[in-house]
Amino acid sequence: MISKNLNVTLIGAGYVGVVTAACLSPLVQTVTIVEISQDRIDAINSATPPIYEEGLDTLLKTCVSENLRATTQYTSIQTSDIIFIAVGTPQNSDGSANLSYLMAAAETIADEFAKKHTDYPVIVVKSTVPPGTTKNIVEPIIYKKNPNLSFGICMNPEFLREGRAVEDFLHPDRIVIGSTDTKTREVMHVLYHGIGAPIFDVDPAAAEMIKYASNAFLAAKISFANEIGNLCKQIGVNVYEVMKGVGMDHRVSPYFLNAGAGFGGSCFPKDVSALCTVAREHGLEPTLLSAVLQVNATQPLRMIDLLEKKIVSLAEKRIAVLGLAFKNNTDDVRESRSIPVIQALIDKGAMPVLYDPMAGRAMKALFPDAEYAASAESALMNADGCLVMTEWPEFSKLDHEFAVMKERVIIDGRHILTIDDAEGICW
Ligand code: NAD
Ligand code: UGA
Repeated sequence: MISKNLNVTLIGAGYVGVVTAACLSPLVQTVTIVEISQDRIDAINSATPPIYEEGLDTLLKTCVSENLRATTQYTSIQTSDIIFIAVGTPQNSDGSANLSYLMAAAETIADEFAKKHTDYPVIVVKSTVPPGTTKNIVEPIIYKKNPNLSFGICMNPEFLREGRAVEDFLHPDRIVIGSTDTKTREVMHVLYHGIGAPIFDVDPAAAEMIKYASNAFLAAKISFANEIGNLCKQIGVNVYEVMKGVGMDHRVSPYFLNAGAGFGGSCFPKDVSALCTVAREHGLEPTLLSAVLQVNATQPLRMIDLLEKKIVSLAEKRIAVLGLAFKNNTDDVRESRSIPVIQALIDKGAMPVLYDPMAGRAMKALFPDAEYAASAESALMNADGCLVMTEWPEFSKLDHEFAVMKERVIIDGRHILTIDDAEGICW
C-alpha cells in the first residue's frame, strides 16, 4: 500500500480541517473537505484560506489546482479510504466538551457507509475529545447503522498551533496514532510516512488523553510562570531572567514559560476545563488543573489593578488597548485575555480604544460599540493609559508613537515593549 493511492475526506473546514487537508494533499490521491458553511467552501475552492495561516494560501493554490476540493455533499465518504472528523468540540456551559458536532458527523458517516463504502474504511477522530469518546461514542454510531461492515477506527490528536499551523503539521514532534487494530495502524502509518515524524502507537483512549494532558501541561507551565511572575514583581526580581534560568534545565525546557496576561485561544481554556470535568466525573477533584484556570482568570485583571494604581478613576479615561487577538499572528480572538480587560474598562466607565493588526473585525463582533483605531499610534492619540495585551512583534518597535498620549501610563502584559518606562504585568 502507498499513500498516493489513498482517498481522504475531512469533515470540518476549521483551522485543523483545512490545514490537515492542504498538508495531506501532496501525499495522497484525492482530498475532499466537507463543510456546512458555504462561505468556507467557496473560499477554499477559489484557493483562498477561510482562516489566516502563514503559508496556507500558497499551499492551497497548488492543492486546489491538483487534488483538493471542498463541498457540502458528504458523498465522497462512500469512496474514501480514510475519513477524518475535524469538527469543533467547544465548551459546554458546565465546562464539559460539547460533542454534538462530532456525533452529528459520525451519524453522517454512518449514513453514507450504509449507501456505499470502500473496503475497510478508516474513521479518524482528529477533534480533541474526552478519553473514551472514539470507542464508546463514535464507533457505536457507525456500527449501529452498519452492523456487517468491517471498518477501522482511530484517534489521531492534532498538536498544531494557530499561526504556525502548516509548519507544525509538517514538522510535528510526534504523530500519535490511537488504534487497537493492526490494519488501521498500517493505513495510518502509510498515510503519514511522507511527514517523516516519529509515530507513537497507543490505544484510542490514551491518544485522547495525551492530547488533553499535553494542553493541560502547557497551560500549567504558563500559569506557573505567571504565579512566579506575580511574586517576582512583588519582590522586585525580573521573572524573565528567573524563567530563563529555570528553562535552561533540560528537564524543564525553555518553552511556554513566558509570564504575562495569561493564555487564551480556542483550546487551552476549553481543554483544561473539559479535563477538570472528566476528573470530577470519575470522582477526583482536579486541584492543580483548577488552580491553572484560576490563575488564568485573575491574571488579565492585574492589568486593570496596575492601571488603577496610576490612574485614580478610570471613568471617562481613554485607554488604548493594543492587541486583541489571543496571541500574535492570528485574527482569532476566542478566549483572548483582552476580552475581560476590555469588559472591565467598560464596566468602570472608561473609553477603551482598541487596536490589533489583524483581529479588529473579530473583536467588533463582541464589542460593537467600542472605538477601533487603524494603527497603534492613532489608538494612543490623547490616551490616558495604554495596555498591551498581545505579543505582536510590531509593538516592540513602538517608541515615538507613545509621545501622542495625554498621560504616559503604559502597562505591558506581554513583555514585548522595548521602551524604558513601561510597567510589566509581572516584572
Ligand atoms: P473550528 O471551529 O475552527 O472548525 C470546525 C468546522 O467544522 C467549522 O467550520 C464547522 O462549520 C464545521 N462543521 C461542524 N459540524 C460539521 C458537520 N457535521 N459537517 C461538516 N462540517 C461541520 O474548529 P478547529 O479550531 O479546526 O478545531 C477542530 C477540533 O480540533 C477541535 O476539537 C479542537 O479542539 C481541535 N484542535 C484545534 C486546534 C487549533 O489550533 N484550532 C489545534 C489542535 C486541535
Ligand atoms: C495550543 C497548543 O500550543 C497546541 O499544541 C495545540 O494543538 C492547540 O493549543 C490546540 O489544541 O488547539 P494555540 O492555542 O494555537 O496552540 O496557541 P499557543 O501558541 O499555545 O498559545 C496559547 C496562549 O498561551 C496564547 O494566549 C499565548 O499568548 C499564551 N502563552 C503562550 C503565554 O502566555 N506564555 C507562553 O509562554 C506561551
